[in-house]
Amino acid sequence: MHRASLRSALPFLLLILAGAAAAQNTIPQRVDSLLRLMTLEEKIGQLNQYTDNGVATGPVTPDNEKERQVMQGKVGSILNVLGMERTRAWQAIAMRSRLRIPLLFGQDVVHGYKTTFPIPLAESCSWDLEAIERAARVAAVEASAGGVHWTFAPMVDIGRDPRWGRVMEGAGEDTYLGSLIAAARVRGFQGRGLGSTDAVMACVKHYAAYGAAVGGRDYNSVDMSERMLWETYLPPFKAAIDAGAGTVMTSFNDLNGVPATGNAYLLRDILKGRWNFGGFVVSDWGSVGEMINHGSVKDAADAARSALLAGTDMDMESRCYTGTLARLVADGAVPAAAVDDAVRRVLTKKFELGLFDDPFRFCDPAREERALNDPAHADAARDMARKSIVLLKNDRGILPLAKGLKTVAFIGPLVKEVKQNKGFWDVELPGVDSNFIVTQWEGVSAAVSRSTTLLYAKGCDIDGTDRSGFAEAVRIAKKADVVILSIGERRDMSGEAKSRSDLSLPGVQEELAMELLKTGTPVVVLINAGRPLVFNGLAEKASAILYTWWLGSEAGNAVADVLFGDYNPSAKLTMTFPRSVGQIPVYYDHYNTGRPATGDGDRFYRSAYTDLSIHPRYEFGYGLGYSPFTYGGLQLSARTMTAGGSIRATLTVTNAGRYAGEEVVQLYLRDLVGSVVRPVKELRGFRKVRLAPGETKSVTFTIDRESLSFYDRTARRVVEPGEFELMIGASSRDIRLKERFELVP
Ligand code: BGC
Repeated sequence: MHRASLRSALPFLLLILAGAAAAQNTIPQRVDSLLRLMTLEEKIGQLNQYTDNGVATGPVTPDNEKERQVMQGKVGSILNVLGMERTRAWQAIAMRSRLRIPLLFGQDVVHGYKTTFPIPLAESCSWDLEAIERAARVAAVEASAGGVHWTFAPMVDIGRDPRWGRVMEGAGEDTYLGSLIAAARVRGFQGRGLGSTDAVMACVKHYAAYGAAVGGRDYNSVDMSERMLWETYLPPFKAAIDAGAGTVMTSFNDLNGVPATGNAYLLRDILKGRWNFGGFVVSDWGSVGEMINHGSVKDAADAARSALLAGTDMDMESRCYTGTLARLVADGAVPAAAVDDAVRRVLTKKFELGLFDDPFRFCDPAREERALNDPAHADAARDMARKSIVLLKNDRGILPLAKGLKTVAFIGPLVKEVKQNKGFWDVELPGVDSNFIVTQWEGVSAAVSRSTTLLYAKGCDIDGTDRSGFAEAVRIAKKADVVILSIGERRDMSGEAKSRSDLSLPGVQEELAMELLKTGTPVVVLINAGRPLVFNGLAEKASAILYTWWLGSEAGNAVADVLFGDYNPSAKLTMTFPRSVGQIPVYYDHYNTGRPATGDGDRFYRSAYTDLSIHPRYEFGYGLGYSPFTYGGLQLSARTMTAGGSIRATLTVTNAGRYAGEEVVQLYLRDLVGSVVRPVKELRGFRKVRLAPGETKSVTFTIDRESLSFYDRTARRVVEPGEFELMIGASSRDIRLKERFELVP
């Protein structure tokens, strides 16, 4: 063999040898042997992620920069590659690079892939961890069949400010519930584990404290105490990591003066240090380079140095790593070992996913065809959607509606909307017609009896000032036995970069509602939105209100199931609904303060507003059903416990109504005296109990050390002896049973 061709064939021969030995070798050994073959440029390539530029198919031409870079081994991952065909084309290009290191394909599979599930905030209101896990599982089955290896989810940012549009992506305001949901979603996405072809690797985001942006303005700074960080914002990340999440995404914000992407405290000390996280960290889109805007670094090289040293392993789209790291290493500003560590982490995941054994293992057309057309997925979406609808009001039991009503007027700008039902993070699959989404009109039309006349008027647009449709809406409302009014936000009014300073219903929708209410026909309102809105007039005057959020592919069927009683609503709010923007941030687990107001009559030099109730419109944990549930017989197994022991609290719940249904029984605790002040109550358990009419069931909670522990002044988790109050309720405000017990040394 010619010397030159021998030289060029050498890495390939070594790879074959490495491959032959691979069967016996562990992943760390395989990563190490590969690392030894890599040039510095190729290593940096593994840390570089681009978005698809839309020319994945067709011949590779030198003027197509990204494809050329992939062939040169300068790209480790691509996001936004849609469809199996396209991923296959990109992967084939990567297979022409010197070391044939497979690409990793990432995608925001946030609430579904082809089958769209309710937005995550809506799902969280189900308090149904199994259903939430199933929703993520379905999304993973579809996405992995479409070539996706890695989803940028779950988003676990605590959301306490509905002005921030990204509350729609999370699980609400509570850390305890948010942590359980974070873990459920990771289990759902990763299924039997990385390496099985129906799993997608999870990416828990956005690390950290992104939800606490000042003023609810997206990307804004965050300044918070260490204790709040540990107690409220970090636990869902820890829970996701403990559940096996393979990757973490940094957040856009600066935290206490240091951008999260260059924050060694968050990434090295906590994540990779204290929590021993073995996966890799990806920046958010462009957030490495954005450190220049933050003013914490002076240029792209400085940004790359800061981010890599802090522990951000992969650079999403800012191109700082690919442009500057080689020089930084040559100059000694970044140790080669730091690059190796980052590359090792990325390669490890590629091995775990099985991509070195078969880079095309997620590209199987038959599997894609099957996964995208599985009828069980629509069933799961319908189940999840109806479990996500929160019944906020039901005057005189107007709901459920009889299917045999004579005339129903279905009014509003969202009645016949198709794509709005998908919410913000839908995946636009090539060749998939979005008409498979069941509209509210279709769902309700299918549910009512043949003798029912269903009338329609749009009334007004979601936005704008046009009232010309009011008259027609009023005309049909007058003819009807009941009005169903579907109003709310457009799906792109909440989501990333969708902060709002005014949380009322957009446009003239609330005015339309008031006109319809004047007709005297009962009005049942469906509010479609990605965040808690403020609608005081409607809350007082409407006959019934269902908060439907964005429900996904099966929206119409789910809405009809609830409206006509085929499903008894069981959802409970996971975010407090304020009465006005002035109450924000508002959440149930606040401190008592030195001057707590006992109620709205108690304002004089109290911690209250002079012009507004201290209570929110709807509290955390609130939600009605068609049957009342009664609580009784609370008994504690003991009045004292030690930190090593536990106490059981047992009670009974009875369905006192006519409809079978589920109740979310909630357990709250209050630590009455602490070395740092403790919240007035904290959720520490819940059970979703299914009860037939008249049925009574016993429910037991176990309280242990974990339930009583908190972070002290130095961010250490401690338990302190003393008295605790135990509260059982149907919401954070509707406490039905109380007891006290003591933790003894
Ligand atoms: C968002 C992330 C998302 C990423 C990739 C960013 O703008 O903040 O949540 O995963 O884009 O699409």
